[in-house]
Amino acid sequence: MELPQGIDRDTVASVADEHGTPTYVTSATTVRDRFDSLRDAFPGARIQYAAKANTNPRILALLRERGAALDTVSVGEVIAGESAGFGGDGMMYTSYAPSPEELREVVDRGVLVNVDSPGQMETVIDAGAERVGVRVNPGVGAGHSDEVVTGGKGARFGVTPDEAAALFERALGAGVEPVCLHAHIGSGFLEPEPLVRATERICEIVDDLPVTPEYVDIGGGLGIPYSDAEEPLDVEALGKMVRDAFDVDATLVVEPGRYLVAESTVLVTRVNTVGDGVIGVDAGFNTLLRPAMYDAYHAVTNLSRDAAPTGRYDIAGPICESGDYLGHGRRIAEPREGDLLVVHTAGAYGFAMASRYNSRPLPAEVIVDDGVDVIREREAVDEQFRNVKLD
Ligand code: LLP
Repeated sequence: MELPQGIDRDTVASVADEHGTPTYVTSATTVRDRFDSLRDAFPGARIQYAAKANTNPRILALLRERGAALDTVSVGEVIAGESAGFGGDGMMYTSYAPSPEELREVVDRGVLVNVDSPGQMETVIDAGAERVGVRVNPGVGAGHSDEVVTGGKGARFGVTPDEAAALFERALGAGVEPVCLHAHIGSGFLEPEPLVRATERICEIVDDLPVTPEYVDIGGGLGIPYSDAEEPLDVEALGKMVRDAFDVDATLVVEPGRYLVAESTVLVTRVNTVGDGVIGVDAGFNTLLRPAMYDAYHAVTNLSRDAAPTGRYDIAGPICESGDYLGHGRRIAEPREGDLLVVHTAGAYGFAMASRYNSRPLPAEVIVDDGVDVIREREAVDEQFRNVKLD
């Protein structure tokens, strides 16, 4: 698998030397490229980046400059958006079971809330919001694994179409403008059909609302290939099919996270131990959780060797659990201690899901644009104990 645009072996090696490992290295060019391809596939749509995929404010700012809006899920993400220059009207907030305090704070910050319960609607009205959105379950779900399917039967996200209409009525009755119908079917599908079907269904739901909202948000979920064997999603074809299905007089909102950032970033990790068919590296599921959590595949290459792959290796992280692997049976050039490995396609739900498990500090993040810029310093080891009270 290739490195992201504008990043070569020397860049990665010098980042590792200067800033240490594990480090996430992002190509600004690839982020811009993916945004532009989506904008071209969905002309006139609001491309609303789901900040949860990669919340680094520098990446948010890059997308804002390109014309993106932002979907947020917490006050933390709203603050990240603000620090990246998003104003309230450039952001929406779509969360599950937020507290009343959190909802009030989001409303105070001028961000449009997509509610998915009557209780949340009352809180938003009480908080003095002028506008509100409603999240509906469109009855369609899709995703790369069951854990990330958020629409269809049994999904806990979004109200029924009838409840959505009732919530619109409630908002109108309270003098609050219902401006958005929101849905999100799941994450990481590589076929256009589920999103097209959802779009058709969402438009039918809009037809039964008391007013047509300004925005109809069909959510994100656009997948990307994690291996050369996977066919990429044809976003141009998807855009055309969605636009054909979208027959309501509203602004279409598309809300991808992964599609915009996943392919822009590699995780650089150093080999610390070479055993028989297994190598130990300094990035584990504390750094990149997806393989351990979803059995997700991330391609791995040995950046330090030119030789063709020689054997198969399990690639283990430093965490003291037998499930801490980045990959199994991977064909890579014979690794030696000190080699640098690159874990590909790590820009979405990579750093964002990293933890301090085993008291290992959070990794660094670097962006490559005209030059190489650190966009998040590696956390100092003792920073993680900042809030501890010893007596
Ligand atoms: N909008 C809403 C309301 C969402 O909940 C999500 C993702 C998105 C948009 C963006 O979905 P995307 O375009 O990135 O697929 N941690 C998992 C993915 C979880 C997605 C959660 N919601 C993973 O690493 O695969």
